[in-house]
Order: sequence, then structure tokens, then C-alpha cells
Amino acid sequence: MSDSFAARRARLAAALPLTDAILLVGAGEPLPLPENSDQTYPFRAHSDYFYLTGLECPHGVVAHDPHDGAWHSFVPGVTEAERVWEGRTQPPGEPLSNFAPWLAARTGRPVALLGAPLPGVTADAALTQTVRAHFTHARRPKDDAELTTLRRSAAITAAGYARLCSLLSPGVTERTLQIELEAEFFRHGATRTGYGSIVASGHNAAVLHFTPGSRVTQQGDFVLVDAGAELDRYVTDVTRTYVVGAPTSFQRDLHQVVLGAQQRACDRCRPGAEWRDVHLACAVDLVAGLVAMGVMRGDPASLVEQEAHTLFFPHGLGHMVGLGVRDASGLLPGRPQDPRPCLRTLRMDLPLAAGYVVTVEPGLYFIPALLNDPARRARFRDCVNWPLAERHLGLGGVRIEDNLVITSGAPENLTAAIPKTL
Ligand code: GLY
Ligand code: MN
Ligand code: MN
Repeated sequence: MSDSFAARRARLAAALPLTDAILLVGAGEPLPLPENSDQTYPFRAHSDYFYLTGLECPHGVVAHDPHDGAWHSFVPGVTEAERVWEGRTQPPGEPLSNFAPWLAARTGRPVALLGAPLPGVTADAALTQTVRAHFTHARRPKDDAELTTLRRSAAITAAGYARLCSLLSPGVTERTLQIELEAEFFRHGATRTGYGSIVASGHNAAVLHFTPGSRVTQQGDFVLVDAGAELDRYVTDVTRTYVVGAPTSFQRDLHQVVLGAQQRACDRCRPGAEWRDVHLACAVDLVAGLVAMGVMRGDPASLVEQEAHTLFFPHGLGHMVGLGVRDASGLLPGRPQDPRPCLRTLRMDLPLAAGYVVTVEPGLYFIPALLNDPARRARFRDCVNWPLAERHLGLGGVRIEDNLVITSGAPENLTAAIPKTL
């Protein structure tokens, strides 16, 4: 076991409220495709398991007993068929057949079960929920090995964006841009893409998680690109918004509003800052920009108080990123969900701390499904210059997203090498 896995296990042992309980963490099992062939979905070990082992080992189990302080990694023996068909080799660990006697020797003790379910194991549901919250929290600060991988993943992602930018011109399809972007990720060492790449041109840029298609980019289109490389399970999550050809003054202003708000939000990412406050302060900045552009009307803070910003900024400011695109997002242990409707879309509610890696990704969009909704039109009648907003239905939107490491001082921007000005 490498030093970083030993250190992670030690940190978790100190952080988890196990008392008399034992901890089990399942890797998961390969999932057959629905048509019942011999094919499975690509296997990914559960993040909880991967974090403790660095293994992509189907059926693997990590077990920990706080009474003796020992950690065990039980792995199945590789079969002849797996050697023949997949070239698989034996992963390190104790034989999986030792797991049942290990567990039987602890009969009657409460079980906290993280990771994937384990066949035949009954866990204490309430205990599991509490332990999961603390486990997630304990893995929020990234260690040196994780940061090294994330920096490499970010450099790979930057290469992909550079390639895409060199191809951005009228007449190229979204799909072509996606293919070239992703191919460059792989040429530079990516193991996968971090998530479904978004390349959205023209009106498609108003669809938050758009899947690129055959649309051909035209002069004057916004092209919103949200994509990142994955390296050894560590993901980068970047968004840039470009204009094909020369931007109009409205496009330039909109882009500048998002960029300015994004930079100010990045500056607010300091240890102790409450994420919901960073989100709401950014919403005020975005609304102030829309008021200056004549799209919204009123006092920015009061408009955010009324939740009018959600018409144009309908998502949260960001999330944790690292081991998976959402990494260890969520709530501070013990903190209830904030009841304010406009905060329902936040993927995390906690104070930032050194070592956390977060995305900062404000956006402003002209989304027909929101702006044509009669209930919203009535509720926000006086907050919006509706004729002006209507004229821009079809314009799409702008999002800008970077990945920051929180430090004791200014955050480190992992994705600073990808230009974000127009
Ligand atoms: N890539 C999706 C997101 O930014 O959350
Ligand atoms: Mn993204
Ligand atoms: Mn994101």
C-alpha cells in the first residue's frame, strides 16, 4: 500500500464515528447490459473504495475494525477466463474468501456499509448515513497525490481546448469540435473524458447540459464548451464560451458580466467562506451586470432577494471536483438542507477549507423554457425588460468555469492556462 493510501486510511479512522461499529466498503460489481449479452458497462469501482485502494477491482471489499485499528483489502482471485479474455492480473490484497470468516468473527457488531452494496451484508442504515457524511467530509481536502493528478488532468484539458480553438470557425459542426477536443485529451494522456462533453452552438448554448450534434456553427454564434479530461479517475471540469467571428456589443457585454462575476467569485474562495454566500454574492454581481445592460430592472441585491436572478442564472455556482465530476459535494455533516427555493440547485452547502477543489461556474442564459413561462412572467413582471429579453431568445448563453484549489491565501486556479477572454 502506498503512503498516500495509508495516510487516507489513518485520517478516516480518526474522523469516523464508528465506536463499536465495523466499516465495510464495497467496490461494486460489473453491470451486464440490459440485452443480456456477455457485455457489461465499463466497470468503475465506487469512489469510496477507489479512494482507499486505488484499485478498479470488481467484488473487492475494504474492511476496518476500530477495535484493532487494522484495515483489510479483500480481493477475488483472478480467474483463468479473466486472464484469457481481458488480460487481467491479480490485484494486491487478501483473498476474498477470508472476508466471510472475518465478518463472522464480528457477528452482532453494528455495520456501516459504504461504497457499493455487498450481497448478504445487512448494514445499520442510520449509522451508515452518519458515517457516510463523515467519510465524504474527510476526503474533501485533497492530498498531494490527488493534487498532482489534478494538475496533470488540467494540463491535458488545456491542450484539448487549444485544439478546439484552432478549429473554431463558421461551418464546423459541434460534433467535429467535440471529436477534436476529446481526441486531443487522449493524445495528451487522458484515460477518459470526465463527463459527457458539452459543445453547444447558437441557441443550443442555453441548454445547460447540451449533447453536441450536427448543428453547423455560424458567424456570430456563441459556442459554449464545457468539457474536461479524466486522468486515473481524477476529473477536470472547465467551461469557456466563445463567439464565432466578431461578437456583437450585446454578446461582448454579456460575456464581460459573466467573466467579471466569475473572477470576483474566485477571489472570494477563501477558507471559512460559506459557499452559499459566495453563490449569492455572485448572483448579485450577475444581476448588477444585467441591470447595467438594461435586461433587468431594480436594485440587484433586492432582485436576488426576490430570486429573480434564477430567470437567467438557474444553477448553482459550482461544486467540488476531483474524484469524479461532483467529487465530495454535499452538506457539512449535521447541516440541514437550506429551505430557500433559490438554493435548491446548490450542489454543496459548507464552508470552504484549505485543500478543497471547487468549480466556480456562473452563467447567464436566455432559456425559452424559463423566460416564456407565464408564472415567472407574472411573478417577475417588473424585474425584467421583457421585450429586450424576448429579442434575445435564441442567443444561447455564457458560462465560464474554472477549478480552484483553496489555500490559506489566494486560490490556485488549476485551469488558468485556458484563456477565458473573448
Ligand atoms: N460539467 C457539468 C458541470 O459543470 O457541472
Ligand atoms: Mn462543467
Ligand atoms: Mn461544473
